[in-house]
Amino acid sequence: MRLLITHEEIVDICKRLGFEITQNYKGKTPLVVCVLKGACPFHSELIKHIDLDLEVDYIQVSSYLGTESTGVINFKKDLEFDIAGRDIIIVEDIVDSGLTLSKLKLELQKRKPSSLKFVSLLDKPSKRKVEFKPDYVGKTIDDLFVIGFGLDLDEKYRNLKDIYVFNQD
Ligand code: IMP
Repeated sequence: MRLLITHEEIVDICKRLGFEITQNYKGKTPLVVCVLKGACPFHSELIKHIDLDLEVDYIQVSSYLGTESTGVINFKKDLEFDIAGRDIIIVEDIVDSGLTLSKLKLELQKRKPSSLKFVSLLDKPSKRKVEFKPDYVGKTIDDLFVIGFGLDLDEKYRNLKDIYVFNQD
């Protein structure tokens, strides 16, 4: 494993994104949605740096086996709140093929939110299979498989506080 992003850098990213979101949602009460499970640590850190009257919710939408995305969207846990007329911010750990969030976007748009934006801690644009651009990105990375700070390989390594490139050695 090779260290890629330190915990301190992650916190700095959350401060920057939190500040931008605070500026862009002044006077609003956004619903900040964590995409389970991978985005949990990022969502928890990010909301500390958003200075608004926000609310939180959780959704679990996809299955991901090994190192290849299945691209199948499966609602394991739906939102608690009705999102019609609300400002929704979806918080994800990483965008890879773009399949998960592009499909989630189509599903959530049917529920008529007032606005729907996406924030991702990491982005791997070189891996896109469908066009999808998160509205807020923490850091763009190369085509690497990464673990830690919520990111897993078959459910392991989510508890690491830094982010590492995974390799067999
Ligand atoms: P996408 O649908 O291909 O964009 O995949 C998004 C999901 O795949 C993310 O929410 C992660 O759960 C998982 N994923 C993609 N790349 C990585 C990685 O490098 N490490 C761990 N999980 C990943």
